[in-house]
Amino acid sequence: MSDLLVRAARGERTERPPVWLMRQAGRYIPEYRDIREQYSFKEAIKNPEVAERITLLPWELFEPDGLVMFSDILTVLEPLGFDYHIESGVGPVVSNPVTSPDDVPTESADVATEIDYVGKLLTRLQDSVGDQTSIIGFAGGPYTLASYVVGDEPTSRKPIRRFRANHPDAFRDLLEAFTDVVCEYVEYQVEHGADVVQVFDTWAGVLTPDDYREFVLPLHQRIFDSIDVPSIVFARHPGGKLDLLQESGADVVGLDWTIDITEAREELGDTPVQGNLDPSYLLGDPEFVREKTHEVIDKAGDSGHILNLGHGIDRTTPVENAKAFVEAAKEVER
Ligand code: CP3
Repeated sequence: MSDLLVRAARGERTERPPVWLMRQAGRYIPEYRDIREQYSFKEAIKNPEVAERITLLPWELFEPDGLVMFSDILTVLEPLGFDYHIESGVGPVVSNPVTSPDDVPTESADVATEIDYVGKLLTRLQDSVGDQTSIIGFAGGPYTLASYVVGDEPTSRKPIRRFRANHPDAFRDLLEAFTDVVCEYVEYQVEHGADVVQVFDTWAGVLTPDDYREFVLPLHQRIFDSIDVPSIVFARHPGGKLDLLQESGADVVGLDWTIDITEAREELGDTPVQGNLDPSYLLGDPEFVREKTHEVIDKAGDSGHILNLGHGIDRTTPVENAKAFVEAAKEVER
């Protein structure tokens, strides 16, 4: 059993930093693009066999220390009654968005029934490679999920902010509704084999610290409380609220590339961190990737660091550069 990732997430000193990449199973891999010729995005995530094949692509290429299940944060939309699809070049589009307080869902279906394909995928992954790498489950955070269902401008994260300004009670109810589903969903993932769970509340990073503290922090605390394996919180631009993200109860605080990892570690004390190479560095040549990756590893120190990018891998990244990134971590000897 390889538990490097789990040990680092618990803050232990490890022989080298564990490594994986956010969005590691995606469009920068030619085989992924081939599979997507045959299946729509939703068909692919709902078919455990296809989703397993896609999840394993980075394993076949560079054996990362964690394999993130191929799925999406938006899977929880359907149990709450939202219908969505991914539009190429646009992103997620919800056909019945929340445009007034009356549209906030009050009931949800049973997650384990509606999203059973995720449990099946996790079980398959545990069976095929669970003894060689850590299986990473994930969910969206309530603010980010809400930001994709509010308003009818799919590419804009502004309608949710207008909603918060005009309907604070409905805003709170919407975040609560997502939190209930997410708590159930993460427990379900752990039951089905997730070794680590990351919560992507990507856009919560742009909230004022006061709004984060008032509306989101208690919900994050509920979510992390319900995760029985090591957990990671990720929000963009975490700089102004590292202390609050630490209070979320996640075991590991994710860092994007806009923050200095040494300074973040000083502020966070013993709390482990994940990150934080600028994904655009993977668009240089492999030697540059190695050099920049070693800089991050050195700056992070030798315990409680999970090497990752500061956000998802760019779709134009050469596969050999993703590989150089992973190899840089593997050549560390402590
Ligand atoms: O990391 C992985 O490889 C696992 C799979 C994964 C996907 N999405 C696959 C995906 C994960 C962890 C996510 C998380 C996710 N999804 C987030 C949070 C992380 C972040 O980036 O901040 C968000 C906000 C989403 C919502 C979402 N799904 C968006 C905005 C998009 C469109 C993105 C784009 O670049 O077009 C998706 C679709 C999506 N999710 C794709 C993949 C591989 C692209 C689908 C395709 O075109 O083939």
